[in-house]
Amino acid sequence: MAEVTQVERPVKLAANFPEIAIEGVTKKFREGATALENVSFGVEKGEFVSLLGPSGCGKSTLLKLVAGLSSVTEGTVTVNGMTPKNARELVSFIFQDATLLPWRTVERNVGLGLELERVARPTREETVRQMLKVVGLEKVAKRYPRQLSGGMKMRVSIARALVSRPRILLLDEPFAALDEMSRDRMNEELLRLYLEQQWTVMFVTHSVAEAVFLSTRIVILAPHPGRVAHVEEVRLPWPRTEETRMTEEFEHEVGRISRLLRGVKSGEAREVA
Ligand SMILES: Nc1ncnc2c1ncn2[C@@H]1O[C@H](COP(=O)(O)OP(=O)(O)OP(=O)(O)O)[C@@H](O)[C@H]1O
Ligand SMILES: [Mg+2]
Repeated sequence: MAEVTQVERPVKLAANFPEIAIEGVTKKFREGATALENVSFGVEKGEFVSLLGPSGCGKSTLLKLVAGLSSVTEGTVTVNGMTPKNARELVSFIFQDATLLPWRTVERNVGLGLELERVARPTREETVRQMLKVVGLEKVAKRYPRQLSGGMKMRVSIARALVSRPRILLLDEPFAALDEMSRDRMNEELLRLYLEQQWTVMFVTHSVAEAVFLSTRIVILAPHPGRVAHVEEVRLPWPRTEETRMTEEFEHEVGRISRLLRGVKSGEAREVA
């Protein structure tokens, strides 16, 4: 078995400052479903935290609370010391079912937010150009969504989210519809951007390999009601590249996290504080 390598933080932390603090959060829907019960954990500035857990354990609900799109029933969520609603400017959300406007070209989809904010055209065009470059889509700026592959559409929605220059990125299963090769490429691309932009990230996925490859930490949620079952530091060195997936350490981490997740699915997990 591979020796566990020293884990280094990819982004230097300014201080031990939880950029996202989730404390004793319970979310009940009017229909009676308790989506989350007493969920607590923090995400430090510059961390990449993935949420794993069976369908219905409250992953999307939790991201929506952090984004200020929904409010808690009990407990508190703070983002950079503010309420999520007040912190909205810092946050970009890429949804599970991200859709582009079919009648707008790529560049006009990416620039939509800036148009709504009435940003002057030259500034808008320059920002859009930069963001398309970041995601490697300069060449398809004039195309319409129907002329793009699934991976390209995803990159357009990432570019659209980046236009507001967020510090915090919330991603809800952004690569679920992609084949494995494209997903691997997108993961590498996302890591490159994460390191360059020094974002704080919360990422939802059903893929253990994806979570291990990307994250500094993984939070495993258990369902009915949604609660934290495990919080795990990913024991894998940085930087992570294509080759990382071929290492024994990687395989070992995927195995370790998969076993924890299976325990949750089969109902063995005990709630932790
Ligand atoms: N707006 C809503 N009204 C009522 N119940 C809801 C609402 N949104 C979510 N729920 C319920 O809350 C629970 C958690 O849902 P959520 O979508 O957060 O799960 P999830 O972990 O994201 O699942 P998946 O992996 O399938 O995306 C589920 O039981 C769901 O039915
Ligand atoms: Mg979901």
